[in-house]
Amino acid sequence: MSDERPILVFDSGVGGLSVLQHIRRALPKASIVYAADNAGYPYGTKSEAEIAARVPALLGRLVERYHPRVIVIACNTASTIALAHVRSALDLPVVGTVPAVKPAALLSKARVIGVLGTEATVRQPYVDNLVAEFASDCRVLRHGSADLVDMAEAKLRGEPPSPDAMRRVLDGLYSQPGGDQIDAVVLACTHFPLLAREISTASQPNVALVDSGEGIARRTAHLTKGQDWPTLPTGRAVFSKQDDWAKALKPALDAYGLTKIDYL
Ligand code: DGL
Repeated sequence: MSDERPILVFDSGVGGLSVLQHIRRALPKASIVYAADNAGYPYGTKSEAEIAARVPALLGRLVERYHPRVIVIACNTASTIALAHVRSALDLPVVGTVPAVKPAALLSKARVIGVLGTEATVRQPYVDNLVAEFASDCRVLRHGSADLVDMAEAKLRGEPPSPDAMRRVLDGLYSQPGGDQIDAVVLACTHFPLLAREISTASQPNVALVDSGEGIARRTAHLTKGQDWPTLPTGRAVFSKQDDWAKALKPALDAYGLTKIDYL
């Protein structure tokens, strides 16, 4: 028996591709619909109310159109703000992406960790709770950056960031009091693993970068365990707005096996 239902992976832009690579590895037979809300990008500078209204509505439309078996919200901003709203609005399993504070705290010898996310994510009570639960004996320094999100978008369109621009962004984290002792940084935005090499080069030595991608793939595999898969898995990207920005991504999307493009 074949089951054609795809896995729906959702983000404001290209960030979710960093999660998709882990899902592909864990579930190579899955069909994927990768949805990027480019009409709403960026999420990180929006208000909580905007995100909480926008994300469930958009996911509702995507579910009607693509009938996924599971939704992966591959976005920390959307998850830390709207995960509960989405779960109550949709009758489907939903995997969220939340900052990997716990693994970073387990790794840190210095007991000083950085959380690099969007401005919206780093101010969320959700993050306060993760810190209180898993890193209460650590000093946790947070930095939100919209520039870093833009740099990841540009990189996937063929324009890698300059080392100077990268250092300026990271200065916002490492120049905080105690920042020179950070030995683990949570990449708390799914865009940032796409810049892991550049972030690592511009960081002080011996800083471990930690993200949630593998954990999300494991959770998705667990939720779909025992299910049938399509005979011929497909990969498509869907954008909420048609523009040149989406078109410029074609080569990057192909590299992730997303060979068809739709618009909502
Ligand atoms: N990729 C997203 C995240 O994980 C959001 C980026 C943005 O749209 O600001 O937070």
